Amino acid sequence: MTEPSQSDAQSDAQSEDRVEPPFEPNVAPPSGASRPRVWPRVLITAGPTHEPIDSVRYLANRSSGKMGIALAEASSARGWTTTLLLGPSALRPADSSHLTVHRFRTTADLQQLLSQSWPHHDWLIMAAAVADYRPKPAPEVKIRRTSTQMTLELEPTPDLLAALAAASRPDQRRIGFALEPADELIQRAGDKLARKSLDAIVANPIETMDSDRITAHLLFAGGRRAEPAGSLLKADAAIWLLDAFAEGFCVKG
Ligand code: CTP
Repeated sequence: MTEPSQSDAQSDAQSEDRVEPPFEPNVAPPSGASRPRVWPRVLITAGPTHEPIDSVRYLANRSSGKMGIALAEASSARGWTTTLLLGPSALRPADSSHLTVHRFRTTADLQQLLSQSWPHHDWLIMAAAVADYRPKPAPEVKIRRTSTQMTLELEPTPDLLAALAAASRPDQRRIGFALEPADELIQRAGDKLARKSLDAIVANPIETMDSDRITAHLLFAGGRRAEPAGSLLKADAAIWLLDAFAEGFCVKG
């Protein structure tokens, strides 16, 4: 994971990082004898969304994108065809010939990228911290200061992950992330797993946001649970999670 210069970050802000064919066929590399015979094409989302208030301001959240970027690095390092949809994060993944990165800014941008990308992938790992509300409507000019009180009107955003349930093939797997207060972690994550018809959900306490470490609890549809031993660096948690998904979804070695 690297921190680009400010000018890099700005020029990348809403563009693709690399020009590559967006979707590669799911074929084994020449040295793939010890790899899974068929392994997943993985679509990962990471980072916050920025929802414009006017032409110069936005509503955002504290997500750094670290967990999703770590997952994209771990997945591409295995030789798995990986696409990362990355929000306005200052971080970028390490380059890999197996990794394609597309940038988004708003929930609407991400919605469009997901609808284009999802049919060409097998797993969706939705680590992005998507806004639940956005200003309505955002004027395309700068709002001027006055001496009177101002109220922002917000509208709910669509639930992108839940909406993809109806647009998924039976062989596709959708994995959500739930950031919850520690004392309600498992119950609330379990509710989200069911409500969004997910195949699995990674429950993690709110302190995980913007941290280098994560204390993950993995819940699968059907009730199975898996937990690593304590808190892990996000890079190590990414490796653990991919192994756990592969085992849970029966990807054969
Ligand atoms: N998510 C999404 N679209 C949204 C909000 C969330 O796809 N508009 C996804 C997140 O990327 C995450 C999962 O849903 O994988 C759970 O997100 P979270 O914010 O924890 O849950 P919410 O649905 O927002 O519910 P709540 O406000 O009760 O936490």
